[in-house]
Amino acid sequence: MNNVYFDNASTTKPSERIINLYSNYASNLYANTMSVHSFGQKNLYDLELVSARLCKLLNINNYNIVYTYNATEANNIGLQGYLKSYTRGKILTTKLEHASVLKTLESFKNIFEIVYINILNNGDIDLDDFKKHLDNEVILVCIMMVHNVVGVKFSLEEIKKLIQPYKKIRLFSDSVQCFLKYKEDYSMLDMFTISFHKVHCLKGVGVLAYKKGINLKNILFGATNQYGLRPGTFDFPLVKATIDECEILYNEIETTNNYVNDLMVVLKKGLKSLNVSLIGDNNNSYIISFYTKHKGEVLVHMLEKYNIYISTVSACNSTSSYDEGLYAILKNKELTTQVVRVSLSNLNTLKEIEYFLDCLGKSI
Ligand SMILES: Cc1ncc(COP(=O)(O)O)c(C=O)c1O
Repeated sequence: MNNVYFDNASTTKPSERIINLYSNYASNLYANTMSVHSFGQKNLYDLELVSARLCKLLNINNYNIVYTYNATEANNIGLQGYLKSYTRGKILTTKLEHASVLKTLESFKNIFEIVYINILNNGDIDLDDFKKHLDNEVILVCIMMVHNVVGVKFSLEEIKKLIQPYKKIRLFSDSVQCFLKYKEDYSMLDMFTISFHKVHCLKGVGVLAYKKGINLKNILFGATNQYGLRPGTFDFPLVKATIDECEILYNEIETTNNYVNDLMVVLKKGLKSLNVSLIGDNNNSYIISFYTKHKGEVLVHMLEKYNIYISTVSACNSTSSYDEGLYAILKNKELTTQVVRVSLSNLNTLKEIEYFLDCLGKSI
């Protein structure tokens, strides 16, 4: 069997279409959007149209769009930019956030009180615990949309309702594992981030979107483009090709989701019959995680021998040797090191799922 790529939550294969689009734009639209000549200004004008098209796609009004290199950069620029405006206050988040969020928040631990809300056994946030910590001191609620390992979709609508009376609170959501997989209401968020290489686009474009009126301080210094937040020359042809591609993918969300979900149903059934332990209780079509008696890394290398590529779940909190997010669900440090993730895309096939289940059965 050729490569069976089941690590799509990490990154995806770019489509031929976007490679061709990019090649065309890169050859023709290379002028710097910061140049004052008409070639550059035409690209700057076009960039604004591209951002307006992205806002339309996301169904958001009155947001600023900042293009970054990836979501890690977008999370850093957004969170640090927001928190630098405050000298005290409380942040509500969870241990399940991505490292680029957790570590950024942690770097402010001497200035703000950071509260990690309890996680339920199914991986969702404990709303009763959340309510207990909600008060006038809170300046930021930072909860991702869809978890990158357990695949759970967090109760952001309920959280939005709960924070509504507190005018000072801003809701920040890392939306990386949700974008173009599910149609979501991004307008309930004050700030959010996405990453395009997770959805068959090329590497090198992320987005920080934030409501106009929110004051973000810059953490990078240089030119004044991109609201001064991500200054300097950036790859406009890549951004334009990316948004072109996303418009096509957006119209295929349901079809793609249905196709991948059919694969996931077979995969889940097969995993259950192999008696591996599934994590969380979610309906995610794209992501499933489980643990076996092997260390995650060992199983990844065993499957690699069959040309199958899945993912480990590495510790992302600098203070621990185990993944604290998974610990919040599994309540067992040893087990967190045995977890592996399978993440699908519409390029995968039923034949690959069957092959994977067969090889996994031989490996465990
Ligand atoms: C939920 C989540 N946030 C952020 C990131 C970081 O994205 P990037 O690789 O674009 O920096 C990832 C990557 O796996 C992710 O899954």
